[in-house]
Amino acid sequence: MAQEDVFKKIVAHCKEYGFVFPSSEIYDGLGAVYDYGQMGVEMKNNIKSYWWQSMVLLHDNIVGIDSSIFMHPTIWKASGHVDAFNDPLIDNRDSKKRYRADVLIEDQIAKYDEKIEKEVAKARKRFGDSFDEAKYRATSQNVLEHAAKRDALHERYKKAMNDGDLDALKQIIIDEEIVCPISGTRNWTDVRQFNLMFSTEMGSTSDASMKIYLRPETAQGIFVNYLNVQKTGRMKIPFGIAQIGKAFRNEIVARQFIFRMREFEQMEMQFFIKPGTELDWFAKWKATRMKWHQALGFGADHYRFHDHDKLAHYANAATDIEFLMPFGFKEVEGIHSRTNFDLSQHEKYSGKSIKYFDPETNESYTPYVIETSIGVDRMFLSVMCASYEEQVLENNESRIVLHLPAALAPVKLGILPLVKKDGLPELAHKIHDSLRFHFNCQYDEKDSIGKRYRRQDAIGTPYCITIDHQSLENGTVTLRNRDSMQQERVRIDDLLNIIADKVTITSILKTL
Ligand code: GAP
Repeated sequence: MAQEDVFKKIVAHCKEYGFVFPSSEIYDGLGAVYDYGQMGVEMKNNIKSYWWQSMVLLHDNIVGIDSSIFMHPTIWKASGHVDAFNDPLIDNRDSKKRYRADVLIEDQIAKYDEKIEKEVAKARKRFGDSFDEAKYRATSQNVLEHAAKRDALHERYKKAMNDGDLDALKQIIIDEEIVCPISGTRNWTDVRQFNLMFSTEMGSTSDASMKIYLRPETAQGIFVNYLNVQKTGRMKIPFGIAQIGKAFRNEIVARQFIFRMREFEQMEMQFFIKPGTELDWFAKWKATRMKWHQALGFGADHYRFHDHDKLAHYANAATDIEFLMPFGFKEVEGIHSRTNFDLSQHEKYSGKSIKYFDPETNESYTPYVIETSIGVDRMFLSVMCASYEEQVLENNESRIVLHLPAALAPVKLGILPLVKKDGLPELAHKIHDSLRFHFNCQYDEKDSIGKRYRRQDAIGTPYCITIDHQSLENGTVTLRNRDSMQQERVRIDDLLNIIADKVTITSILKTL
């Protein structure tokens, strides 16, 4: 099945099973805004707990905060967002559709890669077992031509973006003969800058009101609280401040479901360090964060680093952790070495000193910062995409199963009485009442046992127990594993020990 179709199925599955709904759906929805349903919110909370605990619980020198969404507007002037948090935008005059110029060009670069892969696939088919792929890539005239065009375009694009040269971006779109996917024409406007921040008014009267912004990142709430936390927590450098919260961006091109939203959630950690040590810490955080991702068990081949071509003027290193989505490798997390840019800017704009006095060296300095910044929603999407499977079983039946990491699954245990009589529901409720304090269980007595297993598979429940007549006689139940579908008979008294160890966040934290 084409990856595009797989993705459509995942989106439909998210809606059908109560993970993600389009926002305001009965009013035909609101672009790039989504709501999490009864299953989605549990999984989202588990993702947040996994991140929070890995940061705050496992590090003595990282603490958390929860700052406001509304902040003083000068913060966004100081951070550079008022002047420079822009996307280059271009309109097609015929379709009246608006695009990000950089995205149009990046898609064009990807097309050259696709052409190369097609050539390689054709040759593999032609030559069979004797095919030497590396040699073919290095010598095929067609492959080399596509690669040369891709590299030249990439260089031109990098330079235009680095120089902020909007005319050069438009010229690339013209030279590459990029057409509007809707109208099929090349009738483009000039490229303009578009600020992504949403604004609103604070105050009751129009003359006394103040223009304020909905925060486009949670990071600034950390920077402006740096002194509060450092002083009240008696924190010594190196130390970190973590925060989870909503962020808002008026994205021009909102697409790919919850990948690019206008209201989303971030999990950010700013790690304050001594100037000069930043590249060591950058490398350490890269490794730590990759380990966090890979501990979920989807396989190392699902991840890669993508070092930035275009560094912000204040950054001296930046990389993305990309995840293999059905629409290719895409950024899920950014790791940035931000120097002392943000704290220095807030010193300048607020007029307050934000220095750290190092008692060991008797020096004062503005700390440098390594930032790790991950989108909750993108993380959610990556977990969904890697977990979704349509399986054909040995008996030729099929099932849809979410192989969610057990610690992230919304429901950990399905509790299923074989029949709705003979005292089986009563025993099932008794088991539920004793286990509900430890993890999320779902009781289900409706329909055949097979149908109930399928429902639990579709929401990713790692374990189900079936209570049958034997359970009344000898205090045992069958325990079914979601992935292997194997069943074993276990004692009711052992259920807590068997399951809890495998389904809690602690179970993954211990592997970090
Ligand atoms: N403080 C740094 C910062 O905000 P970013 O690369 O702009 O950096 C960090 O965003 C992460 O936030 C991204 O890696 C992504 O996971 C998430 N993110 C950014 N924009 C998003 C959007 N429109 N929708 C969903 N997630 C988004």
